Amino acid sequence: MADLSKKEWEHYERPEQSHVFKQIATVMRKGISPEEVAEFYSKWAGDLEYEKELPADVYNAPIVTAEAAADGLTEVQRAEARVLDVAAGTGMSGDRLRAHGFRHVDALDPSEGMLAKARERELAGLGEGHIKCCALTEMIRLVKPGGVIVIVTRFQHLESVEEYRGRLEPLMDQFEKEGRWRRMERRVFPGFFLDKEGILWKYQVC
Ligand SMILES: C[S@@+](CC[C@H](N)C(=O)[O-])C[C@H]1O[C@@H](n2cnc3c(N)ncnc32)[C@H](O)[C@@H]1O
Repeated sequence: MADLSKKEWEHYERPEQSHVFKQIATVMRKGISPEEVAEFYSKWAGDLEYEKELPADVYNAPIVTAEAAADGLTEVQRAEARVLDVAAGTGMSGDRLRAHGFRHVDALDPSEGMLAKARERELAGLGEGHIKCCALTEMIRLVKPGGVIVIVTRFQHLESVEEYRGRLEPLMDQFEKEGRWRRMERRVFPGFFLDKEGILWKYQVC
């Protein structure tokens, strides 16, 4: 995952933000295994520390993701839509989706501890493996034609994550050329995590 430079680390050595930054830096360190990632998040989820440490002014991905999913849908369409929240964690995006009128939200995450918190919100939890580029194929397979896929990550990850560098967006483009999905939106936005930008893609499955 992300390879954080020493300079960047020092930048966040501010008492009010250093713990959450270290948490993110630890779980995104190069070479971490999928099992270690899941275990780390499970511990972090305990007593909702994860959520306490990631309020909207530190991490706005759940808000931006839910807004993008809701955009363009009527109230009835939202109420009837079946949503699968991949890498759902404790279900923060699910909460936001429900605030936009979505009623059927399933959560998928490999971290039992995170999912346990999601279950407390009455989201259905499914266990799964690691998010790699090839997961796009599976997402397209799961979504009905006309259905929408919203993907959000830290913008920096496009370069710093080896799996994504030079691969993720070319693969997305290739799928569009093959007529498997159609891009509705690509947007870089501020506030994903502290001063780091996020990137959002919205695709409609063909
Ligand atoms: C930063 S949290 C984001 C959780 C939630 N989407 C949110 O915004 O709060 C990342 C989540 O991704 C999950 N995750 C990590 N690797 C994954 C994978 N390979 N497949 C699916 N989920 C994964 C973790 O367990 C964790 O819950």
